[in-house]
Amino acid sequence: MSQQRSAEPSPFSPGYGRAPLVFGGHAEELAELTAVFETLDFGENQTVLLSGLRGSGKTSMLAKIQDHARDSGWLVISDDASAGLMERVMETTIPGLMSEVSVDARRRLTGLGIWKFSAQWEYIDRHREIKPLLRRDLVALSEELSHSGSPAGILITIDEVSSGKTRLRELARFALELSHAIGEGANLMVVFAGIRVNLEALVNEEHTTFLRRSRDLDFRRLTPAETRFVLEESIRIGGKAIDEDALTSLVSVSQGYPYLVQLAGDYAWRNSESKSSITLSDAQAAHGKAIAAVERRVISRVYQDLSEVDQQFIAAMAVDDGPSRVSDIVRRLEVSDQYVQVYKKRLIESGYVQTDGRGLVTFSLPYLRDYVRSLTADDLGTGATDDWDHFPPLSPQAG
Ligand SMILES: Nc1ncnc2c1ncn2[C@@H]1O[C@H](COP(=O)(O)OP(=O)(O)OP(=O)(O)O)[C@@H](O)[C@H]1O
Ligand SMILES: [Mg+2]
Repeated sequence: MSQQRSAEPSPFSPGYGRAPLVFGGHAEELAELTAVFETLDFGENQTVLLSGLRGSGKTSMLAKIQDHARDSGWLVISDDASAGLMERVMETTIPGLMSEVSVDARRRLTGLGIWKFSAQWEYIDRHREIKPLLRRDLVALSEELSHSGSPAGILITIDEVSSGKTRLRELARFALELSHAIGEGANLMVVFAGIRVNLEALVNEEHTTFLRRSRDLDFRRLTPAETRFVLEESIRIGGKAIDEDALTSLVSVSQGYPYLVQLAGDYAWRNSESKSSITLSDAQAAHGKAIAAVERRVISRVYQDLSEVDQQFIAAMAVDDGPSRVSDIVRRLEVSDQYVQVYKKRLIESGYVQTDGRGLVTFSLPYLRDYVRSLTADDLGTGATDDWDHFPPLSPQAG
């Protein structure tokens, strides 16, 4: 029989919000959170703030938690922190959840007079005599769930927390309703996800101080062992094998950055076409493509998330080939040492930068340096080159 076979579909899923076939790392946190769905013993897991840079796997984690919650009979409300959140949840999501509870439960719930449904259980509107409040809906639903055979609760996940002023105010109002519902004993687990500065802005809003007691999950990179597992296991499930040197090479290029793990795996897989095994040359062919794609799709957005001053700080770091001395950054930015320390601290807390001991700072995100250099090559004269360097632009007067 011939070795030839048609190319199998790639088991990798590079893209925002595309759940990976193999979810690497975070096993402990996931186990702790999902245990609550069985025990209803919330401990420190009643509210969770999930932070991490773009492409670090926040949305994928939320999807994982939601799957576990549903498996345990919990109701799930998942949405983005975009305009109209409260209305969407109260007018669409919660009435929609009615189809997930038993007929008896539905009858009892509508008996409370909070919602009006047709004989076919089509949601009509809100009962007029009672002021519609999200906390009331949640308390009623939670109470019903806690009386069922296997007590359950409600998981609420809000992704893409952003820091616009009106957005934050609206989100804070939403959060306040959640805190009241929790205060009245509703079994809620609440997870907010976003980049760190935006979550901090949310916590600093009026009425959201209860979020200070949240469990903090900060997603950085996967470890080399976790990265290896994701690559190898995805490839195995996809129906191929990978040579040891090729695997090592893909681990190196991806640097444990989830989005890049998927991109590198995907390019290597595609390069191997109909072969049954991925070789070093496939992995090498993936290098350049994967890095270019991650810079275009992810790193550029990571960079845009930074404030102008943060960007200047990063640019001043990118001058160096390795870790930067803080004193050099002070000099390059022509600002005070104190000023630089404030921004350094912020960037470290947000996960963009890490200390390298003895006052040195370095990029924690692979390839951010190269990206910044490509943007600022002219300003900084860093000598970043590309093929166009052989074809300098002509001035209008020339020729
Ligand atoms: N734990 C993981 N193991 C393997 N791959 C992962 C993991 N988490 C996420 N990925 C992959 O990384 C990519 C980005 O994931 P995701 O969209 O969840 O990131 P994010 O943090 O939500 O990004 P953003 O901030 O832009 O919304 C996807 O291709 C996803 O399949
Ligand atoms: Mg996301």
